Amino acid sequence: PDASGTALSVPKAELHMHIEGALEPELAFECARRNGITLPYADVDDLRRRYDFSNLQSFLDLYYTGMNVLCTAQDFTDLADSYLARVRQQGVRHAEIFFDPQAHTSRGVALETVLDGLEASLATSQERFGISTRLIACFLRDRGPDEAMATFEALLPHTGRITGVGLDSAEDGYPPEGFAPVFARARQAGLHLVAHAGEEGPPEYVWQALDVLGVDRIDHGIRAAEDPTLLRRIARDQVPLTVCPLSNVRLRCVDTLGRHCLPQLVDTGVLTTINSDDPAYFGGYVGENYRAVQREFGFDDTALREFASNSIRASFLGRDERERLL
Ligand code: HPA
Ligand code: ZN
Repeated sequence: PDASGTALSVPKAELHMHIEGALEPELAFECARRNGITLPYADVDDLRRRYDFSNLQSFLDLYYTGMNVLCTAQDFTDLADSYLARVRQQGVRHAEIFFDPQAHTSRGVALETVLDGLEASLATSQERFGISTRLIACFLRDRGPDEAMATFEALLPHTGRITGVGLDSAEDGYPPEGFAPVFARARQAGLHLVAHAGEEGPPEYVWQALDVLGVDRIDHGIRAAEDPTLLRRIARDQVPLTVCPLSNVRLRCVDTLGRHCLPQLVDTGVLTTINSDDPAYFGGYVGENYRAVQREFGFDDTALREFASNSIRASFLGRDERERLL
């Protein structure tokens, strides 16, 4: 069997992607034009040349600037359509999509505009692209627990439109434990819980996400590989990790792909999934991430299928829907 074909064709779920991180330069300039906004970049090529990051914060600066062009429901619809059209070619059959409410409400775009716009695309994703979709609202940890709670209150009338909440943005210095109250309320509301932890931050943040927030999955989690006790715990409890290899390289969380802990995670029995994070910025969509690790580590057909089946098992789909995809 042709393993490189498998990377793209095997049915998979994507569990870690930020829809704002799917904003390709062409669509950014198109939205800027129709909204009468001037981006601080000369053109598409100038913007792309700046995708050279030294750490998470240097990316976030560009990411938050770029999304200023997203103003209308149509912008969010086009953004989601653009993502779905690309990953349908890569075997994606289900996507759990992050969005950052505070990144939009803080600049005067209503939560309803964001949700309505995304839903106008996602409501028909199955029919148009063969991809089922769910939304996960992420709190920006660098804006603190109080603003997260206020954001949750604003989301409460819309909890039927999201499957869970997450925690993202600048990690170091913003430990998960401060967000325990808002995560407890989200749990009471019947939502699933995820959190970025151990991307740049220490293993201690992964412990907190598990034991204080009680998350269902860890986003990234790669620094758990530094703590054998933590790694055994994650493997024992089969807590899924949503790993994003190309993101980790581009944000210099690892020196090179060859030094990534992915093989160690697999060998330790961790329920590991492969995802794109911010595909427009990090050099590829989920299929390119599968291909990159296949090339780097020589994963065969069976190993690639395992990542894909892990992604379906780790999803928040109901049992019947998971069975249908496995
Ligand atoms: N880490 C934290 N926050 C983010 C990321 C990331 O990789 N991408 C978008 N928001
Ligand atoms: Zn992320």
